[in-house]
Amino acid sequence: MQVGIDQIGFYTPNKYVDMVDLAHARNEDPNKFLIGIGQQKMSVADQTQDAVSMGINATLRYLDHIARENVGLLIVGTESGVDQSKSASLFIKTALNLPPNVRTFEVKEACFGMTAGIMIARDYVRLHPNHSAIVIGADIARYGINTGGEVTQGAGSISVLVKADPQIMTLSAGHSAYSADINDFWRPNDSAVALVDGKYSKDVYLDFFRHTFTDYQKQTGLKASDFTALLYHLPFVKMGFKANQLAIEKQDDGTKKRLADNFAASACYSKAIGNIYTASLYLSLLSLLENAQLPANAKVGLFSYGSGAMGEFYSGQIVKNYEKAINQAADQELIARRQKLTIPEYEQIFNQALKNPQDGLKLESDEQSGTWYFAGTENHIRQYRKK
Ligand code: CAA
Repeated sequence: MQVGIDQIGFYTPNKYVDMVDLAHARNEDPNKFLIGIGQQKMSVADQTQDAVSMGINATLRYLDHIARENVGLLIVGTESGVDQSKSASLFIKTALNLPPNVRTFEVKEACFGMTAGIMIARDYVRLHPNHSAIVIGADIARYGINTGGEVTQGAGSISVLVKADPQIMTLSAGHSAYSADINDFWRPNDSAVALVDGKYSKDVYLDFFRHTFTDYQKQTGLKASDFTALLYHLPFVKMGFKANQLAIEKQDDGTKKRLADNFAASACYSKAIGNIYTASLYLSLLSLLENAQLPANAKVGLFSYGSGAMGEFYSGQIVKNYEKAINQAADQELIARRQKLTIPEYEQIFNQALKNPQDGLKLESDEQSGTWYFAGTENHIRQYRKK
């Protein structure tokens, strides 16, 4: 029996900042952001979008196409949690109207959280082949105005359905994991923005990629040339580009070109959205599926990285006719619908979103109808509404 990804849903908020505008405002050469970092735009979440609402909106993209009664597991990976105790997944389960017997919880290990969820879901479906699992990654990357990390912010969510005989990608057995207790990036309980040792974080990312990719090749006998595409967690596009350069440096011209072209296809959406932490690797997968010409049974390698730090490399195989299960036009429209913010507008929205709204204040959303949003708290209980 093959188990893997049967559906992918995607959501990003309806506002963005252009990197050229940001560079001008911060007295930087725009090419540092466009070429040096590799980013063109970043999505901005106002105070009505959070990990819960974005996770609901991503999952709603496919919910009508699945058998809701078969969902036995719902996992949310996030590092933008809305409560220190209650799982984000419980709010989401209610909005999605999932059955009461679903097992549901939130996982955290920085950007690795969604991969952890997918691995748990894969093993769950192997044991319960008649059931499926929803795994969501939803995050807002916030470093702060005028910080080194500002250019690598973003907001969005990816939701996948894991089931037997999937339509999009089967998950191969085996993986290579690597962990170490380090301080490259973290967010203390009293901080709404992440703290980061930027240069060190880049070195550790590449180090973890080397470890896991080398070990995976040893374990499986696969070589870089056996892959149609290598996908990466993309905190910013240049980071994945550097890892891909390491992977292809000793390859023949054909492999170099294929892996470089497919990396470019996988980075299209991240370039326009920015870092979405847990969901970033899976945004790369969606971008590859919708922007590359993939041969039948394409073999894809995935590198997941969560600061702190945890790395994992695993692989999958794209299923024939996967195109029927994705909607390129709708996903591209979701990105294109965003409104550009001026830098003062972005700064105002950013600062407002850092504060909790006064209890009892009803928030309104300027999103399209049908979109879920955070509507404020009543008696300190978070309220989610559909526009
Ligand atoms: N034209 C073209 N390129 C230019 C340029 C110009 N005018 N000016 C500078 N550059 C290049 C630099 O040469 C550099 O390239 P290399 O990386 O190839 O050396 C690149 O632009 C970036 O320049 P700096 O390193 O000087 O940039 P910086 O110090 O301002 O910050 C950063 C960059 C460290 C990534 C910072 O944005 C940051 O801290 N981001 C958050 C942390 C992060 O994303 N880390 C990634 C690994 S951790 C992870 O993956 C988990 C996660 O999601 C956070």
